[in-house]
Amino acid sequence: MVNEIKPNVYSVGAVDWDRRLFDELIPLPDGTSYNSYLIKGSVKTALLDAVDPTKTDILLDNLASLGIKRLDYLVSHHAEQDHSGAIPDVLQAYPDAKVVTNTKCKTMLMELLHIAEDNFITIEDGQTISLGDKILQFVFIPWVHWPETLGTYLKEDKIFFPCDFFGSHLATSSLFVEDEPFVYECAKRYYAEIMMPFRAAIKNNLKKIESLKIEMIAPSHGPVYQRPEFIIDAYKDWAGEGIKVRQFNLTGVDIGELAIALVDAATVVIGSPTFLVGAHPSAAYAAMLTNALRPKTRFVSIIGSFSWTGKMVEQLTGLLGNMKVEVIEPVVFKGLPEDKDFVALDNLADKITAKHKEIGLI
Ligand code: FEO
Repeated sequence: MVNEIKPNVYSVGAVDWDRRLFDELIPLPDGTSYNSYLIKGSVKTALLDAVDPTKTDILLDNLASLGIKRLDYLVSHHAEQDHSGAIPDVLQAYPDAKVVTNTKCKTMLMELLHIAEDNFITIEDGQTISLGDKILQFVFIPWVHWPETLGTYLKEDKIFFPCDFFGSHLATSSLFVEDEPFVYECAKRYYAEIMMPFRAAIKNNLKKIESLKIEMIAPSHGPVYQRPEFIIDAYKDWAGEGIKVRQFNLTGVDIGELAIALVDAATVVIGSPTFLVGAHPSAAYAAMLTNALRPKTRFVSIIGSFSWTGKMVEQLTGLLGNMKVEVIEPVVFKGLPEDKDFVALDNLADKITAKHKEIGLI
């Protein structure tokens, strides 16, 4: 199936409707695709990745149907066989083509596919190759999910081709993402099964691509993203180890908003000054409300201040008697907070993170 994703940029890969296992291990309930992209410049033509060797004929047929007589470059983003397995056959059909990749990927391709060294052009991170009116810029994105992986940024069309990064195992006749909630689930499964062990690398690579103006992401599996922020934001969420915080000013809070936030709140931290020896009435009201709604919250803490004495902490914890929660040590300071008090607040944040890790939330 050949599709033009932008003028002179074509999707020429293969959909694998029937594949149900990857690496004879990972289930593929929705099949997958091996996306390969052809970019026709005014002077030269490049193919980005090949396909799984079981689908070589489809790739070659697609190139033939576009009337491609000569390939100048075959960019290999990743040496795993689902993208590189057909490279030897493509080189046979297009003997002028040079395999463009980094040194790590070149070594792997030579080892895995016995491709002769004189077939390669090696490139560095950030290097560009001109096709005439289109420029390919190479972006190394190591460890998503192999050490050699790279992507290509097509400057003129603002398309990023990130190979496995941002992919989804999904066989579909749709070129572009049409049903975001469904693709989200497929991409999340893919992330969980393939990318999750490489969270640190993913975070580095997400930061690295921030400088690129990306209007489209064309991965090597699944449909193309016309709304790149959809999948970039999802990856930021999945790879992030931080905790989302909702903050409410308890004076005049919309209690509906507060109740909605409590549905997903793993930890509740109530902040209060000391008011007439006890908690501020608005903080007490919020504590009573939380206690009455009994959300599935697992941890509670209290932060606040006092001037001479008071029972603010005891009062608030007393109002939370229905909650089956662990109380993380409160942080209460006298008067204007000092450096040590801010350190104590940072420690509280670390303890909350540790607790969330303990119960597998992050
Ligand atoms: Fe889709 Fe890591 O290969």
